[in-house]
Formats: sequence, C-alpha cells, structure tokens
Amino acid sequence: MNKKSTKSGLFSTLIGKKMLMGITGLFLITFLMVHCGINMLIFANDGGVLFNKGAEFMGTNPLIRIMEIVLFLGIIAHIVDALVLTLANKKSRSVKYAHEKPNANSKWYSRWMGLLGTLILMFLIMHLNHFWIVTRFTDHIAHSELDKLPGQETMFEEMKEIFENPLIVLLYVASMVSLAYHLLHGFQSAFQTMGWNHPKYTPAIKKTGFWFSVIISVLFAIMPIAMHLGIIK
Ligand code: HEM
Repeated sequence: MNKKSTKSGLFSTLIGKKMLMGITGLFLITFLMVHCGINMLIFANDGGVLFNKGAEFMGTNPLIRIMEIVLFLGIIAHIVDALVLTLANKKSRSVKYAHEKPNANSKWYSRWMGLLGTLILMFLIMHLNHFWIVTRFTDHIAHSELDKLPGQETMFEEMKEIFENPLIVLLYVASMVSLAYHLLHGFQSAFQTMGWNHPKYTPAIKKTGFWFSVIISVLFAIMPIAMHLGIIK
C-alpha cells in the first residue's frame, strides 16, 4: 500500500513537471509574439518614432513591469524544470535497448532540445546585456528624440548601433535558427503535454506550430539584418 502510493506520487510529480514545462513554454511563446509585434514597429521605417513609443510603453507601464517579473520567473522555471526532467529521463533510460532507433522514432531537434535551449539561453544573456540592462540599470536610454539629454540615445538608436557589428548580427541570426528548431518541437509538445490531443485538431496544431516557429524566427532574424544593411533608417 505504502509502496503503491509512493509510486503514484512520483508519477504525478513527473507529469506535474511536464505540465509546468508546457505551461511556461506556452507563456514564453506568448511573450515572443508580443515582443516580435512591438519590434516589428521598426519596419514602419519612420526613424524609430513608433518603435520608441512601443519600447517606452513596455518600459513604463506598471502592468508590463509586473509581467516582466513573471516573465523572468517563467524563464527560470522553464530552465530548472528542463534540467530536472532531463536528469530524470537519463536515470530511467540508463539501460539502452538494442532495438532503440532514435532516428526512426523522433526528429533530431526533439532529442537535442537541451542543447538548443542552452544556445537560446546564451543568446538571452548576450541579448539582455545589449538591451535590457542598459534600459533598466542606466540612464543612457531616452524615451524619444524630444526627451533626449546630452549623451543619451533612444532604444532605436541603441539597436542600430548594436547591429552595426556583423558578428553580432551573425550571432543573432544563428540564435534564431536554434529558436526555430526549439519551437518546432516545443510548440506541439506543449499542447500534447497539456492533453490537448485530438485526432481532429492535432494536425492543425502541428501545422500552426510549424508555421509559427518559422515565421517568428524569420521575423526576428530579419530585424538585425535589415538594420545592419541600412534598410531600416
Ligand atoms: C532578434 C531580434 C530581437 C531584437 C531586435 C530584440 C530587441 C529587444 C529590445 C530592444 C529589448 C528591450 C526592450 C525594452 O526594455 O524596452 C528587448 C528585451 C528583451 N528581449 Fe528581445 N529582441 C529580439 C529577440 C528576442 C528573442 C528571440 C528573445 C527570447 C528568446 C528575446 C527576449 C527578450 C527579453 C527576455 C527581454 C527583456 C524583457 C523585456 O524588456 O520585456 N528577444 N529585446
């Protein structure tokens, strides 16, 4: 009796951890959509006027500031949970079966989610260093051209300056390839883990996941390229 309840407890814990992975993943996907939407204001090609307004809203709206804390907690939970699940998986699969054919059973990116996630984390550290630290912990960034004090820049000018460096552009684009593959598995896996599995809807979820992963990563990748090439002025 005792043994049985311990086993079912462990089972529900693992399921719980997978659910947390799915929930935090879907939350981060929502963040990516909002982030990409605001960044796309640079394509207005109006010298960054609209984009700076968006960045100001994100930086000053109290609700968004609270969501920023939730976002960072979500990122940490997603990473810690991934580590715990990977270790648990490794333990339970320490005996390899002769008939195991990973290539036939799953796509390579599904098996390399940990590596792809680590590359995205490395990107995130670089990225926060480029844009977030400078806005939250220094007074280098002005909300708009009109508010600019001597020595200050707008967020749009900061972006242009960062993407002058071709190596940084290359790192951003390569990171967006990692992001695309991470989402390619993560999107539909999150839906599956939440139990939203239905013969009628699953193909549509898979298709949406594919196009979402490709489109959002391409849009993000185009931003540093377009700025570097001076297409966005
Ligand atoms: C490649 C194109 C991208 C550009 C040009 C870009 C630009 C920016 C800028 C300008 C900020 C500062 C916003 C502000 O504080 O007002 C920012 C913040 C941030 N970005 Fe990105 N970003 C890109 C892609 C990404 C991706 C792919 C992720 C996630 C994987 C990401 C995660 C974040 C996070 C977590 C913050 C800080 C939270 C926040 O300020 O809302 N960014 N980004």
